[in-house]
Amino acid sequence: MVPRPFWLSYIMRTKQTETLSAQASRVLLPKLWQRLSPVLAEHKMRVALALLFLLAAKGGLLLIPFLLKALVDGLDGDAPAVGGTMLLMMVLAYGGARFANTLFAELRDTLFGRVTEAAMHRIGLQVFEHVHRLDLDYHLNRRTGGLARDIERGTSGISFLLRFFIFNIAPTLFEIGMVAGILWFNYGFSYTGVVLASVVVYAWFSFRATRWRTHFVRAVNEADSNSNTRAVDSLLNYETVKYFNNEQYEASRYDQSLQQWQDARQKNRLSLFALNGGQALIIALSQTFMVGMAAFSVQRGQLTLGDFVLINQFMLQLFMPLGFLGFVYREIKASLANIETMFKLLDRQPKVADAPDASTLRVGPGRIQFQQVHFAYQTERTVLRGLDLTIEGGQTVAIVGASGAGKSTLIKLLFRFYDPDSGTISIDGTPIHRVSQDSLRQHIAIVPQDCVLFNDSLRENIRYGKPSADDDAVAAAVRAAHLEDFVARLPDGLDTLVGERGLKLSGGERQRVAIARAVLKDAPILVFDEATSSLDSQSEQAVLSAFRELAGHHTAVVIAHRLSTIVDADSIVVLQNGVVVEQGQHTDLLARDGTYASLWQAQQRSQT
Ligand SMILES: Nc1ncnc2c1ncn2[C@@H]1O[C@H](COP(=O)(O)OP(=O)(O)O)[C@@H](O)[C@H]1O
Ligand SMILES: [Mg+2]
Repeated sequence: MVPRPFWLSYIMRTKQTETLSAQASRVLLPKLWQRLSPVLAEHKMRVALALLFLLAAKGGLLLIPFLLKALVDGLDGDAPAVGGTMLLMMVLAYGGARFANTLFAELRDTLFGRVTEAAMHRIGLQVFEHVHRLDLDYHLNRRTGGLARDIERGTSGISFLLRFFIFNIAPTLFEIGMVAGILWFNYGFSYTGVVLASVVVYAWFSFRATRWRTHFVRAVNEADSNSNTRAVDSLLNYETVKYFNNEQYEASRYDQSLQQWQDARQKNRLSLFALNGGQALIIALSQTFMVGMAAFSVQRGQLTLGDFVLINQFMLQLFMPLGFLGFVYREIKASLANIETMFKLLDRQPKVADAPDASTLRVGPGRIQFQQVHFAYQTERTVLRGLDLTIEGGQTVAIVGASGAGKSTLIKLLFRFYDPDSGTISIDGTPIHRVSQDSLRQHIAIVPQDCVLFNDSLRENIRYGKPSADDDAVAAAVRAAHLEDFVARLPDGLDTLVGERGLKLSGGERQRVAIARAVLKDAPILVFDEATSSLDSQSEQAVLSAFRELAGHHTAVVIAHRLSTIVDADSIVVLQNGVVVEQGQHTDLLARDGTYASLWQAQQRSQT
């Protein structure tokens, strides 16, 4: 058996891994077209005009060798000399053709830029909306830094693809055809043969080598996303890093991922060197061949000097875009890989989706019912085990239980961030999986357990509960949430910026902002998830009285850690091991002397 040269085995090996990607790009292109065609259709005129300018630019380019030939032949001693005026005309025509080529190319890019940006705008927005539609689970698992990079690379990939596919690949192929035809017509097949052969070899080599390089490119992108994820995650957790003096540790982890990136780049650069070198060799060989053929023909008197110049000029002009074509092909492959990553994200289906015939939820009294609800985040660890719970409309119901008992989970199911594994949850008799998520969430206001804010002013953060609310309504919500003293003490009042994730406020202040938001939203169902847990007893009393005013005409679900805050609830539900173990009013539950009573006694003891 003849041993295979090492480069051949390389190509054969990559071929196997890359067939998948070829399949992927077969699916990718129609998808891409589906997303891009509306943008192209919307800018029909621009696209048409840009194509027209493209033709004009190429026309100017094809004229140049002919003008050069006429000039050289006109100046050559043996040929009949041309007059001064004629010469001037030819020189001017040459200059005109050169300028036209550049001008029309610029016009084309300027016109088309708008279309590219519209496409980036559209797809960027689609991705953003899509990511927001994805389920909570996805968001808990996502890596923000890497995601941002993936989206960024995907949209610029689309821009690149649009610009270069339309204005580079197709026109260059057209140009090759034209040049081959012109040479054949004027000088016979031999020159055309060399041109076509070198184009074919060049294309074959570029294609193979680029395919071989794809995984280096991918490795660079992965390393890039990873290091970005590291950096963003580390910066988001700035405080934690400081608390634990872990700057060094963070830096060394970032250093590691940057090192991986650097190594990947190094391999990528070497493979690029191989590709560029090979391409240059092919171009140089065929140019040498052509020039040699032409030079000997001139010596034999078969061609004029002008012909020699024309042929050389065509070769120069042809290989310039061809060299560029190699680059474009590489970049297009890279762009496609980036777009593929982004489209994978777009193809990801949210685990929780509206039913096709989803109706709009209408809330009357606001009666909430959990029937035999089973739920687990991961199959190995069940959180709710056949939970039955009815919350009558207009009542205030407290849910208590140990930390980790599944209280917050209950609320996430009510908001339909997750679907139960079995059982139903309904509001006023309508199962929530039959209504649109929009209409469901519209009717529930929540003060969550961990409240994070946007990096914006206090006013805008409160207004977030109802973006259409005016300043008076915001002020009323501030009063209801007992925030007015706090706001009065701030030099900038409601215009104070709260910092990223609201970290410039204390936990209690953040919670009251969340209460103000909920007040502003004014939904028929109110949920408090340990909303007073980080307040001191004085603020807690204030917030509780505000809450009681609100809860008076709403259905309210209150999850409370401190039992003293919920003694007057219409009903208290005790959650344990994923089921309701006790339900009733405070005095009844105490009298029963069960779980609630022992919880109560434990808390009473710890307070005294
Ligand atoms: N997204 C999640 N993925 C996996 N497990 C989770 C998730 N969220 C909560 N859990 C687990 O589910 C259990 C119930 O959590 P939770 O409802 O937040 O408890 P609590 O009653 O304190 O509000 C806990 O053991 C918690 O670790
Ligand atoms: Mg909780």
